[in-house]
Amino acid sequence: MSHVGSDVGVRGSKEQEETRVHGEKPAPAEAWVGDHLPSHTRCFAKLTRPLLRLKEYNQTDIFLEDDINISEKIGKIGCSGISEQDKDLEKVESLKLSEEIQASGDVADTGEDFVSPWEVHSSSEAGIDYDKLIKRFGSSKIDDELTERMEKLTGKPVHHLLRRRKFFSQRDMKMILDMYEKQKPFYLYTGRGPSSEAMHLGHLIPFIFTKWLQETFDVPLVIQLTDDEKFLWKDLTIEEARRLAIENAKDIIACGFDVEKTFIFNDFDHISKSPAFYRNMVQVQKLVTYNQVKGIFGFGDSDCIGKISFPSIQASPSFSSSFPEIFNGRKDIPCLIPCAIDQDPYFRMTRDVAPRMGHIKPALIHSTFIPSLTGAQSKMSASDSNSSIYLTDTDKQIKTKINKYAFSGGGATVEEHKEKGGNCDVDVSYQYLTFLMEDDDKLEEIRKTYTSGELLTGFLKKELIDIVQKIVGEHRERRKTVTDEVVAQYMTPRKLKFDYPSPPVQTPGKKKKK
Ligand code: TYM
Repeated sequence: MSHVGSDVGVRGSKEQEETRVHGEKPAPAEAWVGDHLPSHTRCFAKLTRPLLRLKEYNQTDIFLEDDINISEKIGKIGCSGISEQDKDLEKVESLKLSEEIQASGDVADTGEDFVSPWEVHSSSEAGIDYDKLIKRFGSSKIDDELTERMEKLTGKPVHHLLRRRKFFSQRDMKMILDMYEKQKPFYLYTGRGPSSEAMHLGHLIPFIFTKWLQETFDVPLVIQLTDDEKFLWKDLTIEEARRLAIENAKDIIACGFDVEKTFIFNDFDHISKSPAFYRNMVQVQKLVTYNQVKGIFGFGDSDCIGKISFPSIQASPSFSSSFPEIFNGRKDIPCLIPCAIDQDPYFRMTRDVAPRMGHIKPALIHSTFIPSLTGAQSKMSASDSNSSIYLTDTDKQIKTKINKYAFSGGGATVEEHKEKGGNCDVDVSYQYLTFLMEDDDKLEEIRKTYTSGELLTGFLKKELIDIVQKIVGEHRERRKTVTDEVVAQYMTPRKLKFDYPSPPVQTPGKKKKK
């Protein structure tokens, strides 16, 4: 994809023009539809921050392959210096956005829902509208055909998080299942940004599901701890971020991943030792423009350059060539990424650059969010202790938090509840049970009796308290066994239990036939 603003021509300020090194492009103060286009097609597409915050990335940037009517686009975003004649841009109308980013939208939506890697909220009591999100992000809904095929291929029922569509969206899962069917390899990649000492229940969801995927498909898993991301975004020292990464690694290991099939790494310590990883990072950095990351992530002019280049670090583990120890130098092993949908912007970007790097686009499987205890308008967040249940909470804290803060969809009084019934769509305790209670029949019984008013809020909460205390209690016990030596085992770059034949040797000087 060629980006008109950054790749073709930019007009900077006078100062920028003056300080411009010969042959280099200045930073785009205003992006131009390029010089190579006929002069009547030139116009400003002002890529100012307010505009970017306003709406979709693909409405404020113009790409050479843009298939959206460009005059319509310019009309929407406002464009100084554009005449009626300029709007009639035959050539530009045929331009197309790349497949990945075209449908992606940006970090914000219509004002109802906002989903970015750093912020999630909705104005609706029932929470995020995930169907809308799928459309906006351009992913695919998980349907019965996919889960049935999975069951047929693996010979076992799908995980309840998939059966209940808590994992609801995907990209290229068909390709992954095709690989599995042909007994060809793939691997899993997921991660955690260690912003707090303890992970919360929400963070556990992708790891529980990833463990199931690893066991079901018997594949290697890499887990990235982005301590550098948290250093850049939060008020943390490098040392503190690294320490939190190790603490979080213990929580992740306590989920029960097989040490012979799992590699965990923190960016601060791993990347400097891995030339292969660093090379992929820099290749991504070369292929993604500033305008693109501004659009995808909403970065502004005062964000530090560390943030702007960070997406290349989260992208790189999607390529098997980043881990030569594990994949024997192979760059053709496909990757499947389980995560909640907030991480999708990183991987839309990754999928966009992958073919240009000669890599396979990573596949994705996305989950919905465990809501904040206080209501489905936001997701559970590590920074608000009343809204979250941490894996370090005691039984007493769990009980108090659920009883005190879990938003109830029940009636205001017992009489009202019995008369009108409870609303499971907004009741946070019920929502948590849909993630955590494995027994379908029991869950359905709870739903029915709560909706009819027969089951009171206190009893519903009691069900949840019991389950959460059990999950957190068992986790606590397993975590106690995770010593520093155990952590070191998982975090040592090494060959895992899987063998990969060496990649074909390429004769220098000769290009491979396509
Ligand atoms: P982080 O630490 O914010 O989140 C870790 C994982 O948990 C998911 N998640 C949730 N899932 C359900 N309900 C919630 N309330 C909830 N909150 C968070 C996230 O989507 C994520 O899957 N930058 C990343 C770290 C990372 C990563 C990755 C994550 C690096 N590489 C690859 C996923 C896949 C981060 O800060 O995640």
